[in-house]
Amino acid sequence: MPSSSVIKAIIPAAGLGTRFLPATKASPKEMLPLVDKPLIQYVVEEAVAAGIREIIIITGRGKRAIEDHFDVSFELEENLRDNGKKVLLKEIQAISDLADFCYVRQRHARGLGHAVLCARHLIGNEPFAVLLGDDILDAPVPALRQMIEVYDRFRCPVVGVQPVPKSEVHRYGVIKAEPVESDLYRIEDLVEKPLPEKAPSNLAVIGRYILTPEIFDALDKTPPGKNGEIQLTDALRILARQKTMYGKRLQGTRYDAGDKLGFLKATVEFGLKRPDLGKPFRQYLKSLKL
Ligand code: UTP
Repeated sequence: MPSSSVIKAIIPAAGLGTRFLPATKASPKEMLPLVDKPLIQYVVEEAVAAGIREIIIITGRGKRAIEDHFDVSFELEENLRDNGKKVLLKEIQAISDLADFCYVRQRHARGLGHAVLCARHLIGNEPFAVLLGDDILDAPVPALRQMIEVYDRFRCPVVGVQPVPKSEVHRYGVIKAEPVESDLYRIEDLVEKPLPEKAPSNLAVIGRYILTPEIFDALDKTPPGKNGEIQLTDALRILARQKTMYGKRLQGTRYDAGDKLGFLKATVEFGLKRPDLGKPFRQYLKSLKL
């Protein structure tokens, strides 16, 4: 595991998941399984592989399954042990050993920016990562690791970006930026959900950030926007005016797993990659004669 200058990560998971209703009426979106692992576990594993040791999960009502998932499961472990299911037992125990977890409740879903602000007292004066469970990145080098490498060189906030088709920029925050070197941009400004003809680039912000504590003051100054939500992008715009901020174009395939179609795509591709399921699953898909 790499030693890291960034050891804390916030995973906001208090959103209502309206794009995934009715599944998300009583179950957290973050617990939807990609094959057999909940989305949030992929994100936690990415963070840990990047050197993160402390994970702060922002939760809300109806999200307790997340806490249970990362806790020990005494009865289940006892049962697996009694039945000699050693491999499964090891896999289950490893989940609660991934990192140090702590939880903060966001009492009202007042936006991603507000969710991040809820963890201010746990961050102190150090850089930290923010990872969104909606974005699953399948990458040879963990996406967050790619960003920490940039942070370690420049000691400035870093935002993960990937190019998207022009026709889709209206779904994202988009950066206005100057290229600095291959896959690295200096951010001048950010625009939330621009019209294609008004977009300053096709580089969309995806759910990975390395931030410095100044973001909390910026969030404090950010007035609530649409639906009374405090947007992280608005605070990033304030920060980009005060500090050099980089956009790192992330290598790897990204899936928008918070969206039904994106989730289906991820499920098919992750299923095909699985050593135990890939072959029969491929055969089954072929038999569909699409
Ligand atoms: P999204 O807007 O994508 O998530 O927020 P959502 O609100 O859950 O989903 P939809 O759009 O209604 O389907 C991005 C991330 O920020 C978290 C979400 O849990 C998600 O991981 N979030 C959002 C919070 O933690 N609190 C909020 O108030 C809003």
